[in-house]
Amino acid sequence: MDYKKYIAEKLQVEGVSVEEIYESIALPPNTEMGDYALPCFKFAKVLRKSPVMIAEALKASFATDDVVSEVSAVNGYLNFKINKDGLVQQTLEKIFAEGERYGASGEGEGKAVCIDYSSINIAKPFHIGHLSTTVLGGALYRIMNFLGYKAIGINHLGDYGTQFGKLISAYKRWGVREEIEKGGIRALNELYVRFHREAEEHPEYEDEARAYFKRIEEKDEECLELFHWFKELTLKDVQKIYELLDIHFDSYNGESFFSDKMGPIVAELKEKGLLIESRGAQVVDLEEYGMTPCMILKSDGTSLYATRDMAAAQYRKDNYDFYKCLYVVAYQQNLHFKQFFKVLELMGKEWAKDLVHVAYGMVSLEEGTMSTRKGNVVFLEDVIAKCIEKAYTIIDQKNPNLENKEDAAKKVGVGAVIFGALYNSKIKDIVFSYDKVLNFEGETSVYVQYTCARANSVLQKGGVPTKYEIPELSTVEIDLVKALADFPQTVKDAAEKYEPSYIARFAVDVAQKFNKFYFDCKILSAEEEKTRTFRLALTAATLQTLKNAFALLGIGIPDKM
Ligand code: ARG
Repeated sequence: MDYKKYIAEKLQVEGVSVEEIYESIALPPNTEMGDYALPCFKFAKVLRKSPVMIAEALKASFATDDVVSEVSAVNGYLNFKINKDGLVQQTLEKIFAEGERYGASGEGEGKAVCIDYSSINIAKPFHIGHLSTTVLGGALYRIMNFLGYKAIGINHLGDYGTQFGKLISAYKRWGVREEIEKGGIRALNELYVRFHREAEEHPEYEDEARAYFKRIEEKDEECLELFHWFKELTLKDVQKIYELLDIHFDSYNGESFFSDKMGPIVAELKEKGLLIESRGAQVVDLEEYGMTPCMILKSDGTSLYATRDMAAAQYRKDNYDFYKCLYVVAYQQNLHFKQFFKVLELMGKEWAKDLVHVAYGMVSLEEGTMSTRKGNVVFLEDVIAKCIEKAYTIIDQKNPNLENKEDAAKKVGVGAVIFGALYNSKIKDIVFSYDKVLNFEGETSVYVQYTCARANSVLQKGGVPTKYEIPELSTVEIDLVKALADFPQTVKDAAEKYEPSYIARFAVDVAQKFNKFYFDCKILSAEEEKTRTFRLALTAATLQTLKNAFALLGIGIPDKM
């Protein structure tokens, strides 16, 4: 129930709209005063009365009922107290009735949302820099589906460019098939690095590489076979990571897929008079919009990153008829997205307004933990493995007799990596620290997971009640229920702002409130049966809500820890 809405509609203030009142209602800093408060200063001008008088008058005209049990006027504020029994009753009922679907809605019914995320580069290391796009995109994918949208996950592969010519050249000169087969991305990357090293002495390698790339474009059988093999090896390698992170895609159409589908876009640009020549290349001038020109065709007639992205956007519109098309890509590419969004707009595509660059900050490893043996790239696979290992050590110390320690360690370790990337507002740069993300006492996933294990253990001993009544409630219990009641709105806000961090923070907040409840209120040993049953129900409702929140982030919860 939206209490603010209820209050706003019930209050009648002459000359002030319900929406304005709704927007003005706030949460008082201190719940002793009330659950909601309306500052009346804002209306003094319209009503030509002092805020104190307005508050008094509104109080007199507001009849309390079984939703709002108390109204008071204090210093120009109108304070409302909600009937807690009603709030608690409704919230728990909703959670139990909806179960895994608590927080979900149908608001996105019939609308498709394309999410371009992870979008890895073939034969290049999948490093810590790819963590954010992968887990942010994965979370948005689940959140959108949860709200009834049809999410379409797209891995816009970076599988086009001269680097594939270089790779073929390097492979033919130094590669051994079985070794590459075994070594996957790492072996391919080594070939690539070696190519660059040796090409410094042998510039002719570069020409050879260009020639190979041309042969890929001309669909030369041998070159294409190698190209597809590189792609296959890369995808097989990253699949392991995607599985751990619970990441799925509906399409892997990337840059090469669009490299021969740009004709219509280029023709349209020409026809609309948007293309101009600049030093042999074809560009769209964007000076008027404060941007450098958007390059469309190189002087040799080949396409550019932006051109392929424009063809991809058109393809997505034609095939999915998206309501929104999100690009979860680092803020370093801000200009690129601004440019090609603008060009599409100038072409008169009204849907250009539905393209959204969901930009995020950089992730680096805390100093000193950089793995130097492998050069300066930190493979994501290694970070995850290390987190799982560390989680195992901690769990083993805390609870040596736990069954299935491996499973718990995997959920805790993987969760820590995901949560580490999702806890802060996405635009912030993050310094990843193993100790921080695995801190049992911090604002971490393991803290939430541990809380769930605690709740689970209470429920195993006390059972999940099917019937309960509302006893005399403490502030701690009410605060917990209020937090739980916020979940549907939190999911909605997270979707609207493309901020899974809202859900991560929500989970920590709920866990903290539950722990306060756990330590302040006796659950299993409550004196009265009515209280005990209710507290068990509240425990079950909390666990359900935390599970739903974590499911959206792609983090598993061990039963025991
Ligand atoms: N492969 C690119 C990179 O690693 C990201 C692609 C993002 N998606 C897009 N449609 N441009 O930088």
